[in-house]
Amino acid sequence: MAGSKGSFSTSSVLERLNSNDYSSVGKGFGTYCIVAAAILIPILFSTIFMGKKKVKQRGVPVELGGEAGYAVHNARHAELVEVPWKEATTMAALFEQSCKKHLPERFLGTRKLVSKEFVTSSDGRKFEKLHLGDYEWQTYGQVFDRACNFASGLIMLGHKEDTRAGIFADTRAEWLIAFQGCFRQNITVVTIYASLGVDALTYSLNETQVSTLICDPKHLKTLAAISSKITTIKNVIYFEDGETTNDLGISANTSYWKVLSFSEVEKLGKNSPLPPSLPTKNGIAFVMYTSGSTGQPKGVMITHGNIVAIAAAVMTVIPKLSTNDVFLAYLPLAHVFELAAESVMLSVGCAIGYGSALTLTDTSNKIKKGTKGDASVLNPTLMTAVPAILDRVRDGVLKTVEERGGLAKKLFNFGYKRRLAAIEGSWFGAWGLERMLWDVIAFKQIRAILGVRMRFILCGGAPLSGDSQRFTNICMGTVLWSLAETILYPGHRMQLCCALGSAIVWAIIGRGYGLTETCAGAAFTEWDDPSVGRVGPPLPCCYIKLVSWEEGGYTVADKPMPRGEVVVGGVSVTAGYFNYQEKTNEVYKVDERGTRWFYTGDIGQFHPDGCLEIIDRKKDIVKLQHGEYISLGKVEAALTSSDYVDNIMVHADPFHNYCVALIVPSRHMLEKWAQEAGIQHQNFSELCNKADAVSEVQQSLSKVAKASRLDKFETPAKIKLLSDPWTPESGLVTAALKIKREQLKSKFKDELQKLYK
Ligand SMILES: *[C@@H]1O[C@H](CO)[C@@H](O)[C@H](O)[C@H]1NC(C)=O
Ligand SMILES: *[C@@H]1O[C@H](CO)[C@@H](O)[C@H](O)[C@H]1NC(C)=O
Ligand SMILES: *[C@@H]1O[C@H](CO)[C@@H](O)[C@H](O)[C@H]1NC(C)=O
Ligand SMILES: *[C@@H]1O[C@H](CO)[C@@H](O)[C@H](O)[C@H]1NC(C)=O
Repeated sequence: MAGSKGSFSTSSVLERLNSNDYSSVGKGFGTYCIVAAAILIPILFSTIFMGKKKVKQRGVPVELGGEAGYAVHNARHAELVEVPWKEATTMAALFEQSCKKHLPERFLGTRKLVSKEFVTSSDGRKFEKLHLGDYEWQTYGQVFDRACNFASGLIMLGHKEDTRAGIFADTRAEWLIAFQGCFRQNITVVTIYASLGVDALTYSLNETQVSTLICDPKHLKTLAAISSKITTIKNVIYFEDGETTNDLGISANTSYWKVLSFSEVEKLGKNSPLPPSLPTKNGIAFVMYTSGSTGQPKGVMITHGNIVAIAAAVMTVIPKLSTNDVFLAYLPLAHVFELAAESVMLSVGCAIGYGSALTLTDTSNKIKKGTKGDASVLNPTLMTAVPAILDRVRDGVLKTVEERGGLAKKLFNFGYKRRLAAIEGSWFGAWGLERMLWDVIAFKQIRAILGVRMRFILCGGAPLSGDSQRFTNICMGTVLWSLAETILYPGHRMQLCCALGSAIVWAIIGRGYGLTETCAGAAFTEWDDPSVGRVGPPLPCCYIKLVSWEEGGYTVADKPMPRGEVVVGGVSVTAGYFNYQEKTNEVYKVDERGTRWFYTGDIGQFHPDGCLEIIDRKKDIVKLQHGEYISLGKVEAALTSSDYVDNIMVHADPFHNYCVALIVPSRHMLEKWAQEAGIQHQNFSELCNKADAVSEVQQSLSKVAKASRLDKFETPAKIKLLSDPWTPESGLVTAALKIKREQLKSKFKDELQKLYK
């Protein structure tokens, strides 16, 4: 949900997809008749038997204060939802009350490490493989006691009440216990995303004057190395994982830090319990650092009121949520999306089993061969996912199929093709008996990968790749409706398949739209909404308003739907950026009725049923020399469909009337072409510099641009092929693999300049 910004939809992409699909349908009158029948019969049926289907109203227009625009609230809740129940006005109160209510029930589960080994791959690299055992559970009562002990321990350790604590660690049970402990002593928690890098870590710890840092043992070395720059730190608490302090790399540099293990702090508190000092609704619970796509990371101040509101709102969108649910937790808790999800589970009294992205399934990288992944041991009913994870699941499945070989592989491949044909070609097949047959024969085991009980997946983050989307749809029997589809399948006929397929749904993937600034949630698809490309109505804790952006050509008077910048208002809108009043004033506004609004910079449109669709991003629209507007993201999304493109950044500037592009070509495809075309080269980087290669890729771009009906000024006039892939480690793409424009622009400044010569 959070950071899931930026997506595009164009009717031209739709047309391209449609024309592509039909071109593969084949020739001959017979085929056309079948296709026509396949399209017409269901339509006839639905009109004859169902009449005009009544559209369910999910969002309702509403008159509100602040800047003029088109505002909508959730149709089921006329009043904004603020708390899950009356007394739960802060995270600390919610935690205490829920723990007391569910005292003997399972709460947090962790897998015990059975053994650890290293295997060496054929190219000499070493990989860690884990054998993990069953989940060991702590009850709500036990967790509450641990949080109380930790809270007292922190103060006994010498943490000053008015200073902040930081958490820099992977998701685990103690992460939750640590922040709940901090809240009981009214301590604000600073969270730092582990993938932000050392500079961002130094910057955020220093900016927020963190005095106690809670981290994983593997981070102690990093901290020691930057100790001279993070001088506000007095205490370091590390989560144990069986290792002792001596081999943790604590050097003389850090001798002025008190370094204690988590359990030592708990013991301190247990021996000298202190009364809590509980926070209030408007107190800052978290300062959550997110990667700004430009410059320094920004710390978003999240209040206790924000989190309890989002927990209350998300509870309303997960069908039949109960204490019987088991949640698989593995995404970073430093990300507001996971934090919101776990807060929901806590409110309801569900069990939360912890895992990691690298141990999720039986075939995950870190799982020792022949032992079980987190999902198969836990058998969860709920989980969160980002597209990268669904990609990994897909790779795991393909690997298993490959290894099994023989009949199983043949069956799988054949079944997959048939199902794909059903979805992409004659979608009539999606409804047929054949589909069910294939489900039983080929995909039954696959659905078990995430556990046979999996029933709802909350999906957020980056756009989902076409492959993974198709794969999940086919193998998991799921209905995906996602932000991703706004880019990949705007209005695609897949919508119809989903509508039909939703009658036989096993797990539902619900997509959300939101940002850290809106405390994860803003909009969320309802479970019974089979449409794609939209992000649902506003959550019940906030309003969504479209505000005209005349300059960019989006107004609320547009037909057929009102369009404009997406502005989110209500109780989940956060308090602003830490120590950055200027930026806070720019994007947060409080209206005359006291409603707090956040300007997202995304462009959206409201469908008649009150569902939002994100169609563009303000920042990514450039006005060219002759006055045309070019939407960089839209062009990139269209050009990505060229087989040669692995990654692409389109660049435009107001002093020219055309755009250019930096492209990381698909090594496999380009090498293949070079071999066929007889292009001699020593290595890939040399190939990328060959004029022939550049022109081959450019021709392919022109072709897809034409098919997507891009304008001439939208087709890159010049391109540069780059041989090195863009990775999160290099800082050129985000952890969710979205390109970072500013970083790319500065890194390839010279290349871009040359393209404009
Ligand atoms: C909690 O901390 C805030 C500052 O973050 C302060 O304004 C408030 O008075 C504190 N509450 C208590 C009960 O100490
Ligand atoms: C200790 O600090 C110095 C300077 O701040 C640095 O050069 C050195 O690498 C540090 N040593 C360790 C073990 O981190
Ligand atoms: C830490 O913050 C202070 C101001 O609060 C600033 O003067 C100093 O340069 C910062 N240090 C680092 C290493 O960023
Ligand atoms: C690739 O080949 C070119 C020319 O043959 C050479 O100059 C360059 O160093 C090579 N690059 C790499 C990464 O091997």
